[in-house]
Amino acid sequence: MTKNVLILPGDGIGPEITAEAVKVLNKLVETDGLDIAMEEDLVGGAAYDVHGVPLADETMQKAHDADAVLLGAVGGYKWESLDISVRPEKGLLRLRKEMELFANLRPAMLFPQLASASTLKPEIVAGLDILIVRELTGGIYFGQPRGIRTLENGERQGYNTYVYSESEVKRIAHVAFQAAMKRGKKLTSVDKANVLEVTEMWREIIDEIAPEYPEVEVNHMYVDNAAMQLVLNPKQFDVMVTGNMFGDILSDEASMLTGSIGMLASASLDKNNKGMYEPSHGSAPDIAGQNKANPLATIMSAAMMLRYTLGREDLAVKIEDAISKVLDQGLRTGDIMEDGMTQVTCSEMGDAVVAAL
Ligand code: IPM
Ligand code: MG
Repeated sequence: MTKNVLILPGDGIGPEITAEAVKVLNKLVETDGLDIAMEEDLVGGAAYDVHGVPLADETMQKAHDADAVLLGAVGGYKWESLDISVRPEKGLLRLRKEMELFANLRPAMLFPQLASASTLKPEIVAGLDILIVRELTGGIYFGQPRGIRTLENGERQGYNTYVYSESEVKRIAHVAFQAAMKRGKKLTSVDKANVLEVTEMWREIIDEIAPEYPEVEVNHMYVDNAAMQLVLNPKQFDVMVTGNMFGDILSDEASMLTGSIGMLASASLDKNNKGMYEPSHGSAPDIAGQNKANPLATIMSAAMMLRYTLGREDLAVKIEDAISKVLDQGLRTGDIMEDGMTQVTCSEMGDAVVAAL
């Protein structure tokens, strides 16, 4: 049966990078019997400009009805001064929340060809293969109350609430333990249990669930230490599980271990593995419209979509192999460019992946 994929290119480099992923998917439709129908719609600033909101209700409905969503990126200078309630990022957060995409998987995997593209020494990152499991629909991103208020003395006060309920921690913990079982059977839970009660409870729950997965070796790490360990000795990690905000920060850090933030894909899944797929990076407004961006994170996100939601592991592997071939050919976008390699544009990179399929 034909699966429906909603494509939401968004803002900045979003349209350029998603176009390349769509090219790759279309090629698989032609040659490998991939049975999908793609429809495009607006999200973020692009949606605000047309609808006055960063995600129209009709688009939200289309996302619910689709089998999977592929998103580019949201945000940009143009919309930075808007009221926070209609900023581009809210469109993305609404999709995550209403689709209940609580499990965000961000694999930081280094292609051996890029070992020297990282700012870290090749011997530190060679062989790197980390999966960050980020809780995506709770924590301080969504906690109430929140806002900016004026105190009696006339001073403004900004406030957010960092809150997790037991069930939220449990469900992300199970996703992480199950992922660890399929990989190196090592799980690092990242928290700030020395200061924040929310994460003290997080740590307790991880320990309560651990006996259900006796084969998984569990350790706990404070987030500040985890940030340090990621650059000191990143290969100690297999699966990392953490809350929404820490996961946001640590995944950007981990992306640089893979050579560039342009290499980090992501899958955001609900409890039935329905998902939204997007690169972990932002909309890079500084290079938008210049055909310079690295489309590989988005193309790899499309591969994750084939793997997790569309049941086509074979095609996911095919895309990943094609990317590896293209890197073998020495083709690089600016962000991963090195001496002796050939610099290509965003669309040339997409064409090369299609050719390598
Ligand atoms: C990410 C992004 C988003 C986040 C922004 C755009 C709201 O940084 O997906 O990591 O903070 O989750
Ligand atoms: Mg982020």
